[in-house]
Amino acid sequence: MRVLVTPDYRTLSRTAAELLIKALHAKSNLRLGLPTGRTPLGMYEELVKKHQEEHLDFSKLMTFNLDEYLGLPSDHPKSYHTYMKQHFFEQVNISPTNIHIPDGSPGIDADRESERYEKAIHDAGGLDLLVVGIGANGHIAFNEPGSAFDSRTRAVDLAPETIANATQYFGSDRVPARAITMGIGTMLEARRILLLAAGTSKADAVDRALRGPVSPDVPASALQLHPRVIVILDEAANHHRVDC
Ligand code: PGA
Repeated sequence: MRVLVTPDYRTLSRTAAELLIKALHAKSNLRLGLPTGRTPLGMYEELVKKHQEEHLDFSKLMTFNLDEYLGLPSDHPKSYHTYMKQHFFEQVNISPTNIHIPDGSPGIDADRESERYEKAIHDAGGLDLLVVGIGANGHIAFNEPGSAFDSRTRAVDLAPETIANATQYFGSDRVPARAITMGIGTMLEARRILLLAAGTSKADAVDRALRGPVSPDVPASALQLHPRVIVILDEAANHHRVDC
């Protein structure tokens, strides 16, 4: 595991974007796993800038998002479909047929949709690179504490702290209690993984994920089992406190 500590969020975002661009230059039809949330916003901004200013070509890129809320129409303002459109897809030249996000629309058969999603990743030849954030409780994608390391794409209940954290984005709307998420087993099959974490609220989870015991109590600790992980932190997420 390579850990890069950057001085600030801007540098973290640029470093992540550069790594992704390098992977895209090496393989234009890259199979890329992508996160949502606050952490990757700066990375998406950098990528959009590269497209607008230097015509970085995304036309052959194939993307697979990590997760989606269950019970929200995909055009709901807080769905991850909407997030991805706003922050990335509508601002670059990705082909719409190359975009994959689990369908969490109301009434969807979540088990069938999860199976379909797993198969789509498999049929694409697997993920070359997976970008992922970490929750303050150690979750990766929506694999909450207790998730099995061999879990596959499936419907899950969100942890109370995950729901509480999401209320800041949902305002008066109710945060969905369930989601479809790639499993930890699904994610560990990606050839390379890039973990991003910024801010003091993540420092403890990062410490437990990188340096603690490998345990389903801390889903991100599963990344210790993967041979090719790069972690990019800002200074604030790297405060490894030692009690004296
Ligand atoms: P965040 O979420 O980027 O919004 O902090 C990360 C996560 O919970 O996985």
